[in-house]
Amino acid sequence: MKKYLVTGGAGFIGANFVKYLLDTHGDEISIHVLDALTYAGNLMTIADELKRDNVEFTRGDILDAETVGRIFDEFDPDYVVNFAAESHVDRSIEHPRLFLETNILGTQNMLDQARRSWLMPGTKDTYRPGKRFLQISTDEVYGSLPREFDTPQPLAVSAEVAKVASGRTDLHTFGKEMFTEDTPLAPRSPYSAAKTGADLITLAYHETYGLPVNITRCSNNYGPYHFPEKLIPLIINNILTGRRLPVYGRGENVRDWLYVTDHAKAIDMVLRHGRVGEVYNVGGFNEAANIDIVRTIIDTISRLMHDNPGYMPLLKRPLDEVTYDLIDFVTDRPGHDMRYAIDPSKIATELGWYPETPFKEGIEKTVRWYLDNQPWMESVTSGEYQNYYRQMYSDR
Ligand code: NAD
Ligand code: DAU
Repeated sequence: MKKYLVTGGAGFIGANFVKYLLDTHGDEISIHVLDALTYAGNLMTIADELKRDNVEFTRGDILDAETVGRIFDEFDPDYVVNFAAESHVDRSIEHPRLFLETNILGTQNMLDQARRSWLMPGTKDTYRPGKRFLQISTDEVYGSLPREFDTPQPLAVSAEVAKVASGRTDLHTFGKEMFTEDTPLAPRSPYSAAKTGADLITLAYHETYGLPVNITRCSNNYGPYHFPEKLIPLIINNILTGRRLPVYGRGENVRDWLYVTDHAKAIDMVLRHGRVGEVYNVGGFNEAANIDIVRTIIDTISRLMHDNPGYMPLLKRPLDEVTYDLIDFVTDRPGHDMRYAIDPSKIATELGWYPETPFKEGIEKTVRWYLDNQPWMESVTSGEYQNYYRQMYSDR
């Protein structure tokens, strides 16, 4: 029975990972979720999972050595998956220090406790077998790629990758370059600089102390339980609640969208089969310009409402007002990265993973999920979370 310590497991990707693990391994595993429940974490997201005998929860900070140490001593995880982080680029521009504290020092504390707990007695760099520390990183550590094409062009991948990803026939790209694991690190926002710091200290613990680590660097995730500060859930929420739709600059920036369950599968494969000390890029094979994402969401909501009049009471504006006229082009994000595009060849060829969900299918599932789960949205946008946010950020 494998034991997983999942930090940030009440947040978007962490919670989807917990659900994926239970769907895939059932009672063959046990899970301990450690989450500080910042504005971005919500116990409602994992309420059903917490009822199970093989899932436990601690509210705590990854920076707190005593709490983390106690979990290592009592639970003795085989796998640590460190999702916990401040994750929103716009907030990092307003409050950089909190990002450095949580994302770098928090990760260092997690690594320290893993090292202390997993070391074989009497040794300095030999660890009990079967242990693995996985740091969840981001494509943003590589910086920004140029957008070279006005419209997406067919993407050519190697024969080996094409064989693994034979379920995808919709591959396209906005440029000739993509991020590989060898792309130099060049973060450009306080958020991505902090995530880069976390990557470097994780690799340093491997090189210096021999700690068995991996890093995964993924592209933009989307799917259920995504906090409505990020583009896709924000646009869905704004359409439903009668607000306008803010698009930064001209909406030409490109992101590579990865369905969150595909990401969860990749993480579990790296934990179980990845080579120790290696970095794996995890991408969606789905580059899209922001303006097209926003238009697709408008079209999808409009169509679902037409086809299912039962959803109509969720819409706080007349359906014929759900058009592209709702879009406002607003002041751009400072230092806004132009394009991200992940080359997932390494994980495809070494581990046989590829992003199975085409965007068309994933966005439909995602919009439907939000329409079917409005109580969740109301819970995370409630005053309690807003107050927490004000408190945490007041002095940093
Ligand atoms: P999120 O903001 O939805 O969730 C973060 C979770 O971490 C929340 O539950 C929060 O309460 C918890 N947390 C924050 N600070 C903590 C602390 N000090 N101690 C314990 N818990 C704490 O983020 P997400 O989108 O789920 O991202 C998860 C991870 O994946 C992050 O490390 C992020 O950098 C990375 N990532 C996210 C994306 C994406 O598209 N969302 C893409 C690439 C990488
Ligand atoms: O690439 C991985 C990263 O993706 C993760 O590491 C981050 O944790 C995650 O937040 C995400 O960062 P982005 O900045 O790409 O995501 P966000 O949803 O904030 O923005 C997506 C794009 O949409 C980006 O180009 C900015 C733009 N945008 C965003 C918001 C919130 C808008 O145009 N309007 C908006 O209101």
